[in-house]
Amino acid sequence: MTTQPVHQAEPDSPHAGVFERAETVSDWDDDYYHPIAERLYDRQVARMLERLGVPPGGAVTDAGCGPGVHAIRAAKRGFRVEALDLSHTMLGEAERRAVDAGVGEKITFEQADLTSLSIPDASRRHVFSWGVVIHIPDAEAALDNLARIVAPGGRLALHLTNSAAIDHTLEGWGRSVLRRPLEIEQRELGPGAWYEMNDERLWVWRFNLDAVAAFLARRGLTLRHRWTAECSEVQRRIKGPARSGLLLANNAAAAVRVPAAWSATNLLVFERTA
Ligand SMILES: C[S@@+](CC[C@H](N)C(=O)[O-])C[C@H]1O[C@@H](n2cnc3c(N)ncnc32)[C@H](O)[C@@H]1O
Repeated sequence: MTTQPVHQAEPDSPHAGVFERAETVSDWDDDYYHPIAERLYDRQVARMLERLGVPPGGAVTDAGCGPGVHAIRAAKRGFRVEALDLSHTMLGEAERRAVDAGVGEKITFEQADLTSLSIPDASRRHVFSWGVVIHIPDAEAALDNLARIVAPGGRLALHLTNSAAIDHTLEGWGRSVLRRPLEIEQRELGPGAWYEMNDERLWVWRFNLDAVAAFLARRGLTLRHRWTAECSEVQRRIKGPARSGLLLANNAAAAVRVPAAWSATNLLVFERTA
């Protein structure tokens, strides 16, 4: 695969929004990519790729690559990566980081909207989408497309939020103490809410993961694996040593395999069986 020219942010793009803001890249770096958390992601991405069954040197699609952190992890493990994202800002950042990490030649970058993907049916064997569908209000359309492109025997890994997580109870308590209630919408795939981020709106699903699995089963995908990704995401709201402590606890919780049903985010691997 060859590397496409560096993407430029397009402020007038019809997709401009929270994902096109440069501040969103740095905010998510601060929220998620603490050095302690990186150790957890190294292990989780390795496990995900193994369960996707990507053969040595094989190709994998990262559907919603953001700033490219997991695409780069996959490329460093020797895989060729097709990295897709809605946002030109994210793609530009991902390409810059891939070049800096010395894996620019292993990753292609392409602007794509998962809700209207033009990739042919059954044309990909290994696809992952990490923390992406959770921000797509029309998740049904995105899941339809992700399922559609997976070939028979191929696999799809999703990193998703979990409506049953203990985190949501804690957030509810915190918000009632601070008198900042959240307007939660109940939908077929679970509850969700609009948050404000960088003067834009950001939709966040709290998926009912049984409903997601049933939705994908109706499209021929069978759930093969489900495990805890992050036990809690509360640490994102905290600074200093307490944050490091919570991050270490998160890593430990994943290592001892805390039940996925309690955890803030889960990894699920599906196989096309029909
Ligand atoms: C929270 S980030 C996750 C990025 C990356 N997977 C990671 O874990 O670092 C969500 C990403 O989804 C992308 N995204 C949102 N809606 C999308 C859509 N409809 N199609 C493709 N990508 C989308 C955003 O641009 C953003 O890069």
